[in-house]
Amino acid sequence: MFNPTLPARVGEYLALHQERFIADLCAYARFPSVSAQPKHKPDVQACAQWIANHANKAGLTSEIRQTAGNPIVLAKTPPRPGKRPHFLVYGHYDVQPAEPFDLWTTPPFDPQRRGNALYARGICDNKGQHLAHLHAVEAYLKTDTELPCDLTFVIEGEEEVGSDQLGPFLKKYRNELACKAVVISDTGIPSLKQPALTCALRGITAFEITVRGPNRDLHSGIFGGSVDNPALVLAEMLAKVRDSRGKIKVPGFYEGVMALKASDRKEMARLKIDPRKEARFLGVKELHGESGFSIMEQRGARPTFEINGLTSGYQGDGSKTIIPSWAKAKITCRLVPSQKPDKVRNQVAAFLKKIAPKTVEVTISPGHGGEAYYVSPDSAHAKAALRTLKAAFGHDPVLLREGGSIPIVNEIRKILGVDTLLLGLALPDDNAHSPNEKFDLECYRRGMQMSAMLWPELTAAFQK
Ligand code: BES
Ligand code: MN
Repeated sequence: MFNPTLPARVGEYLALHQERFIADLCAYARFPSVSAQPKHKPDVQACAQWIANHANKAGLTSEIRQTAGNPIVLAKTPPRPGKRPHFLVYGHYDVQPAEPFDLWTTPPFDPQRRGNALYARGICDNKGQHLAHLHAVEAYLKTDTELPCDLTFVIEGEEEVGSDQLGPFLKKYRNELACKAVVISDTGIPSLKQPALTCALRGITAFEITVRGPNRDLHSGIFGGSVDNPALVLAEMLAKVRDSRGKIKVPGFYEGVMALKASDRKEMARLKIDPRKEARFLGVKELHGESGFSIMEQRGARPTFEINGLTSGYQGDGSKTIIPSWAKAKITCRLVPSQKPDKVRNQVAAFLKKIAPKTVEVTISPGHGGEAYYVSPDSAHAKAALRTLKAAFGHDPVLLREGGSIPIVNEIRKILGVDTLLLGLALPDDNAHSPNEKFDLECYRRGMQMSAMLWPELTAAFQK
């Protein structure tokens, strides 16, 4: 077995252009490409255009394909005679909302360098991570170093809102996108000394619940005591979803959820989180989770119910004595293998409707969903990735089960029939989805090296 190596000229090119790569990432992160907020539609379009142009400058051939939602950017390495394995690199140029703005030290869409990191919304999730791959491929193309494979970058603009368009897109272009494997850097590593292959992701199911009471906000003194309060009703209903041991009370919720295998528990136990340190890091008095499971298990291998947003009544300065007309909650459940997003959503919706009092009207509007993912770390291509991680980071890699979701990885398996290798570059304190998101420049640099070393390894894995 040969060791992954960085072709000399590729390594030199990467080293020589580090400062420009940092400037590129800052330019990319300047677009407020927030897919959840309609007002940012023009920014989303402009951002797609930027990454397509950038890929062209890097020596690839890019195209912007419009969809019923946000555009998908395809960028391919130049066509050459002969047959080579084809791989896809997936990334997303859309970002989460930056709110609450006042908690950012520097503005979310004005990228700034502090210490050895760049700060901006989306800089880590996911602009920096796929840009690292693009730089690695640029280094091959600009130094005339032969890439042993063909590559297509698929960079979408709706990952943070459920990737609705990408599944149909994969189906439509399944021949063009046929490949041996997909590589995604959109997950985490415990530290720079623990590079990781993520072999499991949780699934997700999203919905909104609205509880309606009186036909307008009412004076809480004149009417209070005789009319039910939708905010209180919603709070009572939601409180019934979980018991004191952290179990979800929705009938059927755990149907089909497999007990953890001893070997899985052992693997997860290799990565320890100190609960006291973690609580301090997160600013909570103590951690909280389903009893009987370790923190890694709670996050990586157990389903959850979360309130992501809760709105009702008066939110302005001072007090306003009303009974609100309505109350709303945005909910997501994280899922594990064998749980079906639609089924769980329906079970939760049925439960909430059943426990609702007659005093209110409850409506539930379904949102996005995606199944959990598991990929075996034993395949030749997973082993190639593990060798590459070791070479690029200089440390033995770990196998991770992560709690986040990338809905498209299951669609990729169903539609294209291939595995996705999840080779993330995010650190635990990178603040994805939080204020002051950052991307560590060492992760960026190692990511480029990893990508550059990966292609020969991965190609070899498919040629045996
Ligand atoms: N990069 C994340 C997913 C992720 C984060 C995986 C950390 C593993 C570890 C991705 O961009 C993301 O945030 N996905 C959303 C998906 C949802 C909106 C459908 C998520 O997990 O909330
Ligand atoms: Mn994200």
